[in-house]
Parts: sequence; structure tokens; C-alpha cells
Amino acid sequence: MTRVAVLGSTGSIGRSALEVIAAAPQRLQAVALSAHNNVDRLCEQARQYRPRWLAISDPEAAGAARGLGLPGCRLMTGPEALEQIAREPSVDVVLTAIVGSAGLRSTLAALEAGKRVALANKETLVVAGPLVMHLASRYGAQLLPVDSEHSALFQALQCGRREEVRRVVLTASGGPFRNWSADELETVTVAQALKHPTWQMGAKITIDSATMMNKALEIIEARWLFGLDADEIAVVVHPQSIVHSFVEYVDGSVIAQLSPPDMKLPIQYALDFPARWPGPAARFDWSQACQLEFEPPDFERFPALALGLEVARSGGTAGAVLNAANEAAVAGFLAGELPFTQIVPTCRRVLEQHDFEAQPGLDRLLALDGWARQEVSRCLCP
Ligand SMILES: NC(=O)c1ccc[n+]([C@@H]2O[C@H](COP(=O)([O-])OP(=O)(O)OC[C@H]3O[C@@H](n4cnc5c(N)ncnc54)[C@H](OP(=O)(O)O)[C@@H]3O)[C@@H](O)[C@H]2O)c1
Repeated sequence: MTRVAVLGSTGSIGRSALEVIAAAPQRLQAVALSAHNNVDRLCEQARQYRPRWLAISDPEAAGAARGLGLPGCRLMTGPEALEQIAREPSVDVVLTAIVGSAGLRSTLAALEAGKRVALANKETLVVAGPLVMHLASRYGAQLLPVDSEHSALFQALQCGRREEVRRVVLTASGGPFRNWSADELETVTVAQALKHPTWQMGAKITIDSATMMNKALEIIEARWLFGLDADEIAVVVHPQSIVHSFVEYVDGSVIAQLSPPDMKLPIQYALDFPARWPGPAARFDWSQACQLEFEPPDFERFPALALGLEVARSGGTAGAVLNAANEAAVAGFLAGELPFTQIVPTCRRVLEQHDFEAQPGLDRLLALDGWARQEVSRCLCP
């Protein structure tokens, strides 16, 4: 029985993870759940899954959960509660499904405790890739990707040796504005940006998919996770989101992973690697005709892609600044304080203004995270 802590259980990935866990009660058990402030959903999950620990990271929201009477369940509050759970000896796997750099400290804590980390929180690798990989290796922790593209690459990379890899290719759906002109992009509303054509996800990653910043973050994630050079990572647009990414080997072979767009599959694979079993993820019906299309991405209309490659090349403090600027700019867009087409240029401006350092420690990265958010807040029009 694998005991799983689901950090961010109330979110889109967290809820899918609980479906996977519920489908395999003889293999997986949810022993800890967390929310930031969605207390009602967390309590509902606690009644169904009976975890040993519950964490509410927003101290202001925690009051609402006290006195709810959840027998056998210890309630912990504040951001430190997530780190405590991540270190808990009777947790085997920590699924990090928190959105944004708020997931960084608990991921680092799980790695320091030598856990298996099923990493959905890509921002952790974007902010502190070298540090994360160093901790994983130092403490013998396993880091398994949940992002569907990286899960696909992880699987395809098992078909050859590192020196046999020519490059990896990340697929991108292209988001809801794949065919919109530059002029049309100027008119994008929040409601339009929140309608993803193939994936159901939380608000932040849905906006990132619309700007293609999500692919930029994934380039940086792949760079650190697989120890690749930025020049070994390419992106291709694949609107059906069925081929989740592929590896091109030096002999010309291309090894891909395919499945319907459903996060339950990469979650299950990361939680219970290397086992494969019939889980709740959607399957293909091969009796139906289907088409797979591929097209090159448009770097002009989606400037986030070039930014992602630049940051993957420079490393150092660049990832932390890009990530924080993007989180703040997306929040600004969702609040109606920044136009859609200003999200990426705002990130670039903040990145160019920052005082680059090649080998920063955690404190420096966290300080820059705060600085970048402040810089973006000056560009917002409330
Ligand atoms: N959704 C997908 O299909 C998908 C695919 C690949 C990768 N990912 C990655 O997975 C992560 C989660 O994405 P998501 O779509 O599941 O996001 P989401 O639906 O917005 O859920 C986010 C979760 O994090 C919690 N949270 C929010 N702010 C927090 C904070 N400051 N401190 C601690 N917890 C906080 C939320 O709690 P409350 O509910 O209480 O606010 C919720 O449980 C992201 O890094 C994303 O890039 C997602």
C-alpha cells in the first residue's frame, strides 16, 4: 500500500488524483490532503477519504474548519503545515499539486525527506531547477513528472541512452487562440481565455496555455528535469492533445506516448511507477477514425515561447523572475487590470530589469520572487 499526501487536493490535479486513488484502494491510500482556502471542498474530501492529516495553508481560512468534527483527522494550518506533511515519515509519496511558487517549499521538504515526489507543480522546477535536482540526488528522492508532456518524455526516454537522444519535442495544443490574428488577440476577454479546447484545468494554467507561457514553463521544466540543453528542446503544435510529447533519437527513431487528454493517466503513472494497471483514465476507441495534426508554433503571435527558451538557456535567477512575473501578470489579467497581450511583454520587461545571478541560493530566489511581483503590480491598472 502506497501512502500518498495530496498537496493541493482541492484543485484540478488534486481531484483527479483522488479519483485515481479511489480506483485502487488495495494499492493507494490518501493519508494527507491540503487546501489553501477551499475549506468546504477539503472537508467533503476528508469525509470521503478519511486522511490522517488535513492542512489549510491560508491561516485566515483555517478558522472555518475548526470545530467541524472530523474524527481521526489532525488539522494543521499555515504554509508550514505543508512542509510538515511532506516530511511525515508515514507518507511514501508526495503529490505536489499546488499552483505557483507557493508549492516550492513543500516540494523541497519532501525531497529532503527522501520521498518520491509526483511533481505537478512545474513552477518549482522553473524557479529552482538546479536546487531541486541537487536535493533529489543528495537525498535519494525520486522525482516523477505529472505534467503530461514530461510524463510522456519520461516514458519515451526509457527507450534509449542519454547520448542517443537527439532532442525532445514538447507538444502544445496551441490553446484557444491558436488561429487568432495578432489584432484579434488584442480583444481577448477573461472568459474566452478560460475556455481551453482540450483540457479542463485550474485558472492559472489555463491562462498560461492561452498565452503559451505554459509551454515556456515546460521547456524550462524539461531542461532541469532531464538535464537537457535548451537547444535539445523543441515545441510543435498538436491541436488534438493526444500525442503528449516525443523523443527523437540519433538514428531518426521517434518514440512518443499517446492517450486521450486526461491527467488521471500521468498522475497514476507517477504515483505508482513503474506499475501499470487499468485505472480510471479515458481510453481510445480505435474503431473510430481520428486525425493527428502537427504544425510549427508561431513565435510572433506567441512570444512566450522565445522567452521560455531564453530563460532555459540563461538559468540562474531568470526562471524565478519569469515565474513570479507571470504569476502576478496572470492574476492581473484575471482581475481585469492587465490586457491579455501585455502578460508576456510585462514578464520580459521585469526579466530584463532584474539583477541576474548565475548561481543563486534559495533566499535570493525567494527575494526575487517577491521583487518581480512588486514590479508587475506597478504595471497594473486597477
Ligand atoms: N490542471 C492540469 O491539468 C495540470 C496539468 C499539468 C500540470 N499542472 C500543474 O499542477 C499544478 C496545479 O494545477 P491545477 O490546475 O490543479 O490548479 P488549481 O485547480 O488552481 O488548484 C490549485 C491547488 O493549490 C491550492 N493552492 C492555491 N494557492 C495556494 C497557496 N498559496 N498555498 C498552498 N496551496 C495553494 C488550491 O487550494 P484552494 O482550492 O483552497 O484554493 C488547490 O488545491 C500547477 O502547477 C499546474 O501548472 C496542472
